[in-house]
Amino acid sequence: MFNAVSHFFSQLFASYSPEAYEINNLFLDYLVLAGIIVALVTGLVIVGAIRFRSKKRPEEPPQIFGNKKLEITWTLIPFLILVFFFVLTLRAMIEINTPVGNDPKPDIIIIAHQWWWDMRYPGYKIITANELHIPVGKKLLMAVKSADVIHDWWVPDLGRKIDAIPGRTNYTWIEADSAGTYLGTCAEFCGAEHAWMRIKVIAQTPYEFNQWVNNQKQIPSQPNDSTAILGQMLFQKETCGDCHAIAGTPANAHVGPDLTHIASRTTILSGRLTNTRENLMSWLANPQKVKPGAHMPDFRFNKNQLNELVTYLEGLK
Ligand code: CUA
Repeated sequence: MFNAVSHFFSQLFASYSPEAYEINNLFLDYLVLAGIIVALVTGLVIVGAIRFRSKKRPEEPPQIFGNKKLEITWTLIPFLILVFFFVLTLRAMIEINTPVGNDPKPDIIIIAHQWWWDMRYPGYKIITANELHIPVGKKLLMAVKSADVIHDWWVPDLGRKIDAIPGRTNYTWIEADSAGTYLGTCAEFCGAEHAWMRIKVIAQTPYEFNQWVNNQKQIPSQPNDSTAILGQMLFQKETCGDCHAIAGTPANAHVGPDLTHIASRTTILSGRLTNTRENLMSWLANPQKVKPGAHMPDFRFNKNQLNELVTYLEGLK
C-alpha cells in the first residue's frame, strides 16, 4: 500500500527534462505553502472556536473596533507571499521560455491534425506520425502548428503544454534527460476523437536514435511477396495516395499520416491501437467503427483485399 502510494506520487511529480523540473518544482512550492496556510487558518479557527466558546456569561464579550497593527500585518503578509510567488513564477517562466530569433530553424515540426500528429525532422527530411523519436540529453527546438482546429501538445514528463493554432507557429523546447518512452496527449478539446490523439515520445541514446534516423531516411524496398505486390497495386489503384505518402511510390500527399515506415511504429491511429496485423485489418475494414469521426473513408474492402493491403503495409518497416 505504502509502496503504491509513494510510487503514485513519485510518478506524479516525475520530471525528465529541465523544463518539467522547473514546472514541477514551482507546483510543489505552491502546494507546500498553500498547505501551511490551510493548516494555519484551520488551526486558528478551531482554537478560536474552542477557547472562545459561550461560557453562559450574561454580559456581552468585549467589542473591539479596529486594530491598525493587526490590519497592517494581515495585509502585509499576504502581499509578501504573493510577491514571493510572483518572483518564483517569473523565474520558472524565464527558465522554460523559448526565445527564437527572426528565422528559427526548428529541429522538429509538429503539425496537429484531427486526430493525429504529423511529425517532421527538416534536418533529416524525415516525416513520421504520432511517435516522436528524440536523442537523449539534447535540447531540440520544436515548432508546433495546426492543420485544422486548435490542439495542444502535452507530454507532462517532458515539460510544458504548447498550443497548436491554425495559421500560427508556436515554439517550445523538447528534451529528455533519460532514455525511455514518455506518453502525452492532445490537451485541447478538438472534436470527436480528441481523446485518441495520443503522443508517444521515444527518447533514445544517440546511437539508437541515429539508427532510427537512418532507417527512416531509407526508401522502403519494393515488395516481392505476391500478396504484398497485390496490396501495393490496390493502394495505388484506390485513392489512398490522395491522402497518404509512401516514399518511392507516386503516393505523396500529407492529408493523412505518412505511411513510408508505418510498420516501424508501435501503434496506429495516434495511439488508438497497437500496430498489429489484426488491428490494421479491423481499421481498414471499418474505420468509423474503430475511430468514429476519423477522416479515413470506408473503402468496403473485401477479405482478400484487406489481407493484401495489410501485407503490403506491414512490409513498410
Ligand atoms: Cu487535438 Cu484535442
